[in-house]
Amino acid sequence: MASQRIRPEEGRRMSACRPGALHTAFNMLALSWIIISELLLSAHCLKDLKIFVPEAVIMGNAATLSCQYDLEQAALYAVRWYFGQEEFYRFVPREAKPTFVFAVAGINVDLTNSDATSVTLKGVTRELSGTYQCEVSEDAPLFHTEIRSAHMQVIELPKGDPVLQVDKKVIGINDNFKAVCTVGPSYPPANITWTVNGREIHKTPLQRITLDAFDGSNTYSSLEMFPNSQALQSFFATNYQHSVKVQCGVSILHVFHKNVEVRIGLNRAPATTISPNLLGLEGSKRYANGDPDNSALTGASQRCCICCEALGAISLAIFTLTVAQL
Ligand SMILES: *[C@@H]1O[C@H](CO)[C@@H](O)[C@H](O)[C@H]1NC(C)=O
Repeated sequence: MASQRIRPEEGRRMSACRPGALHTAFNMLALSWIIISELLLSAHCLKDLKIFVPEAVIMGNAATLSCQYDLEQAALYAVRWYFGQEEFYRFVPREAKPTFVFAVAGINVDLTNSDATSVTLKGVTRELSGTYQCEVSEDAPLFHTEIRSAHMQVIELPKGDPVLQVDKKVIGINDNFKAVCTVGPSYPPANITWTVNGREIHKTPLQRITLDAFDGSNTYSSLEMFPNSQALQSFFATNYQHSVKVQCGVSILHVFHKNVEVRIGLNRAPATTISPNLLGLEGSKRYANGDPDNSALTGASQRCCICCEALGAISLAIFTLTVAQL
């Protein structure tokens, strides 16, 4: 049964390849050659080159960049460091004075803290944001060379604390609420996020969030919540809550984080204006950007109340007349 599984041509090929004595000798020779060349090429070879560059450094601070590698038994010929394509530091152990520094604008190498695996830059400036490369070469006979690169961002921190301003200290479910968070100039411009009671507020048509940042000027973010926004509804959904904590979080990569917060009271008194949803006007009048025009809605609800009052007065008059006639 088993032999039937081999199709005729396969069987023929197998018999043609059956190794004779000559074949065996040849195969062994080939194998030894492969092993020898592998040994030559990789036995004492530069391996596992890794570069470590801080992702973000605060302007004026020192930055230590390092390069780790395994030379196995090979000797080191040189380690070279580049900013972009420009070499600024070289370490050649066989030289009497192994360290070399090349002038590159803005780079100030701290020689006392630089060696075969690391280089330290003193007082980094914004211009030193960019790509750094480490190139390691083995000595003769192979001069095997590897290179790795990584990016570093130099950060200019904002001066002073962020400031949070709100348009109301107490809000009702049908109120508009606006908060503005401002932080001084930074490089790169800071990210600003909004949270209420620790939960991040996301952009929706009823929850407007803006972020404005221009090089060299303050970074601003505003949060606007319109009546019946998801966030407002959730504040009023539970009865025990009498205030919420509105927080603005300012951050620059992982090196700078600051929060400012303010407590906003919740007014649970019955609504004095009719919400857009109850009027069935939701979405009927909007600004060009899709946000609801609430000023008009507030006006509309007031007009409706005047109109209700008028209707009430007329019915009262009719009722009085009817009573009078009886
Ligand atoms: C801002 O946030 C985005 C998204 O999380 C991030 O990619 C970016 O690096 C941040 N920028 C700063 C300056 O922190």
